[in-house]
Amino acid sequence: MYETWEQLEEEIKDCKKCKLCQNRTNIVLGTGDRNADIMFIGEGPGADEDREGEPFVGKAGKLMNEALIGLGIKRDKLYIANIVKCRPPGNRNPEADETIACMDYLRSQVMLVKPKVIVLLGSVALKNILGEEYQITASRGKWVEKKGIRYMPTWHPAALLRDEAKKIEFWNDLKEVRDWKLEIINT
Ligand code: URA
Repeated sequence: MYETWEQLEEEIKDCKKCKLCQNRTNIVLGTGDRNADIMFIGEGPGADEDREGEPFVGKAGKLMNEALIGLGIKRDKLYIANIVKCRPPGNRNPEADETIACMDYLRSQVMLVKPKVIVLLGSVALKNILGEEYQITASRGKWVEKKGIRYMPTWHPAALLRDEAKKIEFWNDLKEVRDWKLEIINT
């Protein structure tokens, strides 16, 4: 575990803990407000993110941004990260050795940001954070509370590109998150 952002950045900058280092252009650590109440966790960088060094800047990210704007959630007030920080070739799912090698970085990010709510974007994020027994189809839209953090599993934005029907569910799940925030402000 890395106790400061400086330590974390120093450790990750030449990371060779797994084979994903071989093809990466940029390490995609995370972006946004390091003191955010709400953290989003995706799967891993795609081609656009690998090129730009920032999470969710490609097609799926743009779709997510539209939902955030529509709901009045400011992206720069969130902290956004991924399970793995380097692009899996061909956008395949990260493999177990890769997620295990990378997990200390994410654990440190969660420890440093101290979010109250974590949005888990898709099955890879859900299973790696809450456990293999969780299924995205059964879990999405339902709050899970663990060790003082509230988790909201929802679809990965890339799934919305393939299936229009998921858009409304994604929107509703993010609305839950936004309304949690309003509840906190008003109490
Ligand atoms: N998909 C992810 O899971 N993360 C990104 O940063 C981009 C696409």
